[in-house]
Amino acid sequence: MLKKKILTGDRPTGKLHLGHYLGTIQNRVALQDKYDCSILIADLHVLTTKPQKEHILASRNHIKDMVVDYLACGIDPEKSVIYLQSAIPAVCEMSLYFQMLVSLNRLTGLPSLKEMARSAHIDEESIPLGLVAYPVLQTADILMSKADLVPVGKDNEAHVELARLIARRFNQYYGEFFNIPEVVVGQCPTLVGTDGLNKMSKSLNNTIFLSDSAADVAKKVKKMYTDPNRVHAHIPGEVEKNPVFIYHRWFNSNQEEVNDLKERYQKGSVTDVEVKDKLTVALNNFLDPIREKRNQVLSRKGYVEEVIYEGTLKMSEIAQENIKQMRSVMGISGTWNKISRVARAKS
Ligand code: TRP
Repeated sequence: MLKKKILTGDRPTGKLHLGHYLGTIQNRVALQDKYDCSILIADLHVLTTKPQKEHILASRNHIKDMVVDYLACGIDPEKSVIYLQSAIPAVCEMSLYFQMLVSLNRLTGLPSLKEMARSAHIDEESIPLGLVAYPVLQTADILMSKADLVPVGKDNEAHVELARLIARRFNQYYGEFFNIPEVVVGQCPTLVGTDGLNKMSKSLNNTIFLSDSAADVAKKVKKMYTDPNRVHAHIPGEVEKNPVFIYHRWFNSNQEEVNDLKERYQKGSVTDVEVKDKLTVALNNFLDPIREKRNQVLSRKGYVEEVIYEGTLKMSEIAQENIKQMRSVMGISGTWNKISRVARAKS
């Protein structure tokens, strides 16, 4: 039995944090045993909001940081293909063909477009064509890999829906060619940041990175937001919305300890200091194996590059075969073949 194919990916924006782990990485590590997994580093998608050269150069470091994080968390290159989007130009050609199969209206109506423009500080009148076409490029990623399943966050659900629509239209125009990929929307628990206010996000400076040292973690936990009404340890505290307890719940492997802390917190018989110290220990216990793996990965010179290189070569082969067949079923390569045949026969 052939394993089903999965494709997921990220834009390389830098080091990963606890929110990424919970939202996607953990899930990918689990999926790679059952499925044929590919993870794309969507560096071309970064250009849709940041086309300047300095951003292209910066994303080079981000790519390496991100892949080191993947590997440190247990993404296994024997099971998951990790590849670099920009090294496979066929994806651009596919994206162009797909642009003919979707209306501008459909693209400009996507809420994700406005959201991406807003967070990149681009006003509506200045949205680049490339950003409008973002989901079409994503469609090319998905269909190029012939993915069966595409696990994404809620914000990307409509993009996979678009890939399905484009695949159907392609089949309608040129004959059955693509299978229709399915979206898998992760339960993706959104992790609150250390500020207790917003989603954990690098731009908000409320993150704990997977690459933070034990001392960094201790420092960040110490500064974490808790229950603001609890000015004394004997005042009963709120645990549900308290980020310290939220992290305890997700990352402390000793849930008995967590229940005990919760009870005492609600009764007003434990200090915030104790709850935080125990969180620091729990987080560091969680991060220690990741740190160890990270050190192993980094000690092998050129290893990360090799992983990306091998993965990209593998995907590139698939892409080239695919684009060749696409051109053929569309009748595009036939035109050139005919012209060449006639011209050669004449000479
Ligand atoms: N759009 C995804 C993001 O928000 C990245 C991405 C690009 C992607 N191509 C993909 C995800 C294909 C899944 C499948 O970062």
